Amino acid sequence: MKTRFLGDHRLHPESLALRYGYESAWSEGALKPPIFQTSTFVFESAQAGKDFFALAYGLREPTADDHPGLIYSRLNNPNLELLEDRLTLWDEGEDALTFASGMAAIGTSLLAVARPGDVIVHSGPLYGGSDHLLHHVLTGFGMTPVGFAAGRPFETVRPALETALAGRRVAAVLVETPGNPTNSLVDIQAVATWAHGLEQPGARPVVMVDNTFLGPVFQHPLRWGADVVLYSATKFLGGHSDLIGGACVGSRAALAPIRALRTFLGTMADPWTGWLLLRSLETLKMRMTAQMKNARYVAEFLAEHPRVRSVHYLGLLAEDHPMFGVYRRQCVGPGSMVAFEVDGGEAEAFRFLDALRMVRLAVSLGGTESLAEHPATMTHADIPPADQLALGITPGLVRLSVGVEHYEDLLVDLGQALDAIPAR
Ligand SMILES: Cc1ncc(COP(=O)(O)O)c(C=O)c1O
Repeated sequence: MKTRFLGDHRLHPESLALRYGYESAWSEGALKPPIFQTSTFVFESAQAGKDFFALAYGLREPTADDHPGLIYSRLNNPNLELLEDRLTLWDEGEDALTFASGMAAIGTSLLAVARPGDVIVHSGPLYGGSDHLLHHVLTGFGMTPVGFAAGRPFETVRPALETALAGRRVAAVLVETPGNPTNSLVDIQAVATWAHGLEQPGARPVVMVDNTFLGPVFQHPLRWGADVVLYSATKFLGGHSDLIGGACVGSRAALAPIRALRTFLGTMADPWTGWLLLRSLETLKMRMTAQMKNARYVAEFLAEHPRVRSVHYLGLLAEDHPMFGVYRRQCVGPGSMVAFEVDGGEAEAFRFLDALRMVRLAVSLGGTESLAEHPATMTHADIPPADQLALGITPGLVRLSVGVEHYEDLLVDLGQALDAIPAR
C-alpha cells in the first residue's frame, strides 16, 4: 500500500507510519513486516540478476515503472526499503537512506560531495563527533572546515565567513540547528539562499541540515531550502536508547551520490536495526510530544531555581532574542533538549550530576528515559577549551534530554540534585 491518500484526503505521517509501503499478503498475512535477516537474494533468472545490477549500478536509465530488484543487503533489503519509504513522509522528501549510525550518515554524505581542496562550511556548535570529523579526519583528505556561529542572524556572521572562504570552492554546508548542546539556532533559509547563490566552478554547495535535535516532527529543513536532512536515528527516531542508526532524506538527485557511496563504503544499517526503527516510527510523534511537554515543565522549573544561572530551551526563547523570529518560522515546536548552567563550574556541575537519582548520567538523547551529561568533558571534550567557551560550552553547562517519565518525578529528582550543590 503505497498511497498517501484515503479518497482525496491526504493521510498524516503518524497514520502512514503504521502501514505505508507494506502489504501483509507479501508475508503470509503477517500484520507486521518480518525481519529479512538475509545477506543475499535469489534471482529468478540470470537475466533478472543482470537487469537488477544494471539499474543498481546506474548502467542504464530507470524507466517510470522500474523497481530496483533485491540483490544483496549492502545495496538493498526490504526492512531498509520500508523504513526509507516511511522516512520520506515526515520531511516530504523524495528519497531516504538509512545508515549504521548518525556519523555514518554524516560522513558518507560529506565524502560523497567533497573533494580534496574543497571547503566544508559548518555552523557551530556541532555535535562533538561531527566537529571531530571535520577538523581532524576530513582535513587529512585535503578538505578545510570553515565555521560560522549559530544563534545569531546569518547576515551578521556572513561577512567574516566570506572573508575566511578566500574564494575557495564550497562543496557542502553542514548546519546543525538547534546546535548540540546549546540549542543555538541557524536560519536554514538564509544559509541555503546564500549557499545556492555562491558563484563557483563546478556544482553548487550541497546544504545539509542535521535535524537530530528537533527530529522530523518539529522541524522540516527541506521546506526551507536544505538539500539533505541528516539524522542520528539513535536518538528520537529510535527513541528507546537500544540501537545505533542514521538516516538522510532529500530529493532523488541529492541522494544519488550518497546512495552510490553507501554501497561501496558499506555504511548502511542492518535489517534488525531497520526493523527496530520501523517499530519506533509508529510512536515517534506521541513520544516526541510527551517529551516536549515534560521539557517545558523542566525548563521552567530550572529557570526559577537559585542554583541555576541560565537555561537554554527553545520554549523559553525571549521574544526580543534576535533568533526568535527564526524560531517561530522554522520550528514547529521547542523539542525536549534542555541545556542549563549551574551556578559554578565543573565541580558544581559534577556535584549535580552525581546526585541525580532517577535521571541517568549518560550521553545520547531522544530516548524514553531522561539523561543528563556534561558537554565540556564528555560529548564535546575534544574541542579546545577556548573554542568551547566561544561556542557557549562552559564548565557549568549540563545537557538534559527529557524523557517520558511523570514530570513531577523529574522535578523532584532535579530539585534534590540541584540542592546538593553547595551555596556559593
Ligand atoms: C546532533 C547529532 N548529530 C549526530 C550524532 C551522531 O550520531 P550517532 O551517535 O548515531 O553516530 C549525534 C550523537 O550524539 C548528535 O547529537
